[in-house]
Formats: sequence, C-alpha cells, structure tokens
Amino acid sequence: MKNLSVIILAAGHGTRMKSQRPKILHAVAGKPMLHCILDQLKVLNPDKVVIVVGSRDAMQNFSHYRHIKCVLQKDKKGTAHAVMQTENEFRNYSGNILILNGDVPLITERTLKNLITQHKSSYAVLSILTAIVKNPFGYGRIIRKQNEVIRIVEELDADDHTKKIKEINAGTYCFKSSYLFKVLRSIKKNPHKGEFYLTDAIEILNHEGAKIHPMTIEDNDEILGVNTRFHLAQANMIMQRRLQKKLMDKGVTILDTNNTYIEYDVEIGQDSIIYPFTFLYGNTRIGKNASIGPFVQIYHTGIGDNARIFQSTIMESQLGDNIHIGPYAHIRDNSILKNDAQIGNFVEITRSNVGENTRAYHLSYIGDTEIGKKVNFGAGIITANFDGVRKNKTKIEDNVFIGSSTTIIAPAVVKKGEHIKSGSIIEGGKKGISRKKRK
Ligand code: UD1
Ligand code: CA
Repeated sequence: MKNLSVIILAAGHGTRMKSQRPKILHAVAGKPMLHCILDQLKVLNPDKVVIVVGSRDAMQNFSHYRHIKCVLQKDKKGTAHAVMQTENEFRNYSGNILILNGDVPLITERTLKNLITQHKSSYAVLSILTAIVKNPFGYGRIIRKQNEVIRIVEELDADDHTKKIKEINAGTYCFKSSYLFKVLRSIKKNPHKGEFYLTDAIEILNHEGAKIHPMTIEDNDEILGVNTRFHLAQANMIMQRRLQKKLMDKGVTILDTNNTYIEYDVEIGQDSIIYPFTFLYGNTRIGKNASIGPFVQIYHTGIGDNARIFQSTIMESQLGDNIHIGPYAHIRDNSILKNDAQIGNFVEITRSNVGENTRAYHLSYIGDTEIGKKVNFGAGIITANFDGVRKNKTKIEDNVFIGSSTTIIAPAVVKKGEHIKSGSIIEGGKKGISRKKRK
C-alpha cells in the first residue's frame, strides 16, 4: 500500500511469560509470534517496517522480508516510549503509520487492510481497533462519550465501573504520521506503572478535537494478546484451527482436528488424508493422495505424491512418490528415498540415499549408505558405519539381494547384482568386498 509504514512494538520484558527468551520469539504453530505478524504484512506491502526490540538477541535476520529495520529500546518505559524510539526512521515521512503490538500473533491482513481503508475514508487522525469481549481483564478499556472514543483506561488504572466495560483496545492503531510524534511528546508518565502509555494519545488527541475512528473487530480470536503461557496455548489452539481449516478448504482430509498438530508453513496436497496423532513440523511438504498416520511425526521433510506412512518418525529428509513407510520406522538426517522405496518396521535410515523400488522391511540400520535401485534387504541388516573415530560410507549398487542377519562393515562397496547369503559379515576395503567366515 502506498504511504503506509508499520511499527511493531516488541521490546517489552514479557515478564508474565517467565522466560529467558524475548516474548515475541515464542512460537505459535512453530512460527515466532513476530514472524506471524510479519507474514500478514506481506500483502500490505508497506514502505517500511520498523520493529522495536528490547535486546540484541531479538534482532534477527529479517532478510527474507522486505524493508525491515530494527530499533533498540534500551529502557522499557512503555508503549509510547517504544514508538518514540522510531522517530528518526520517520523524519520526513508523511504517510500513515500502522502500529501493532508484537504479542498479537493472530491478527490478519484482512483486518489490517479494513482498518487502513476505514482510516483513509474517515479522514481520521487516528484509527484504533477495538473488540467487545466477555472477559476484558487485562486489556485497556475503551471509554466512549456519545459514541465517540474519548479515552483508553488501562486495567491498573480502572475503577470498578470502568472495569465492567467490555469494549477493549486491541493494540492496533493507524496514525497520520504528522500527528504521531507530536502527540507522543505530550504523553506523561503513568503514575501507577511509571510508564509512558501509547493509549494516552487518545485522550490528548480528543482534547485537541482531532478525529479518532474506532473499528470494532468481528472475530475476537484475532486480537488475543499473549502475555502468559496460558495465552500462548490459547493462541496455538486458535492457530491450529485456522491452519487446519485452510488445508481442508484446499481438499485435505483431517480426521481428528483436535488430535492433529500442523505447523504454520506445512503444505499438503489434494486428497491426502491425515489420521489422528499426526504431527507435522517446520517446512514439511506432502504431495497429493497421501495417507499419513496415525501416530506419525514429520519434521522439515519433503514428500512426493501417494505416500503411505504409518506410526513413524521422519526428520529432515526428502522422499519421492509412492513411498511406503512404517510402522515404527525412523528416517533422518538428510536421507533421500527415491520413488517406490518401501521401508518397514524397526528400520532406521540416516544420512543415506535409497534408490527406486528398494525394500527394507524389517529390523535394519542403514547409515551413511548409498543404495541403488531394486535392492532387497532381508531382516536384520546392519551397516556398521562407525569405527569409533569416524563415520564410514557404504555403497550398495543396483539389484543387490542381502540375506537376513548380514552386517556390512564400512567402508564397503557391494557390487551390482550381488547375492549375499544370510548371516554374512562383509568387510569391504577400498578395493571391493571380501567375505569372512563367521567363527
Ligand atoms: C497493551 C495496551 C492495552 C491493550 C493491550 C492489547 C498500552 C499501555 N496498553 O496492554 O490498552 O488492551 O495492549 O493487547 O499500550 N512494549 C514495548 N516496550 C515497552 C512496553 C511494551 O515494546 O516499553 C511492547 C510489548 O513487547 C508488547 C506491546 O508493546 O508487544 C504491548 O505491551 P504489553 O506490556 O503487552 O501491553 P498490555 O499490558 O498487553
Ligand atoms: Ca500484551
């Protein structure tokens, strides 16, 4: 949007979280709250986004977002003081400035867009987002006189009558920049909390006769402010509902939404079915027609179409089409499974490539191994990759048949088409393979 900039207030101590970590870096559906908000700003395409942070730890790499600047608020003297820290960034700026609290991770781009549109069409100096809630405890109350908003009173400063007011301040504001920094200078320290409240700008502007436009939100879920771990759990639940609904709208079946956990950036293709107790984390991508679960955990993994995965754990790997996994398999650490690979119970695969149509159905450990096409693993095959000092590699070429209870001591190469008898111990030096009789 033209003539629009954004300030995100993210420097508060977050004392009520009882955490060593900055509050805004606590995650909702796997994404730090601050990033949930930044994601919603993408479509608005602001000229500039300034994030007020409270410590160097919170200054992260924002290179994948455009036009972001971090400003440090050393002393936490309140929300007005926080906004004041950004003044240098807006020296010659004459557009509108949207101010968001960094601990409101469920706010949507749709609401922000509406607020800005109403702000412009009402010619207001300040527009604020309000909500009517059942339990207003902890939020600033909106005081109206003949329907005009004249003041916001914080919980700490509210008398019993004010505490009963159900209309609250959502912590999202749109200011004409020319008024913003002027009004901030007039805000006095709150005597109870010793902080400078941004919300005091409303009373000052109202006295000056400036137009204040309130917009009341319909979906109260959006304005949940995360101050405690309990709020964080609530935000996670709402976000789950939202993310799962989005996937269902795109043609994914989720059988038990309460017992499924899917993180923010996960993608799933059409006609896939997610069975209960499935947990999909990070940047996991699953293709079409998959059947995942029950009891599956997948972290940061790409999976092609038509996968069948039961009761297994898959971490940081890449899987092709028509893959069958489980139950009780563990695939991890940059393993690659090509199309039609089939991995069964109690098979662990780590840092290995598994070729097309290769099968390992029972009780095997495959580590640091390059496996060709159509290799058949019997039961209980071990690639002994660790010699106590280093991890060594095994290569198993196409069409190899490995009989049950075979140990391959790496480094080793098993040549194309080899048929290894059950119970073999393969010690493959650099030159190739040799077989030793068991003693
Ligand atoms: C604030 C509002 C309240 C509103 C509520 C909505 C004020 C005074 N009150 O209360 O009216 O109903 O949000 O969720 O604004 N922050 C800083 N620097 C500071 C203090 C805070 O950057 O010195 C940041 C925090 O990191 C947070 C945001 O500002 O993201 C709001 O601060 P918080 O202390 O959570 O305010 P609330 O008490 O929730
Ligand atoms: Ca808050």
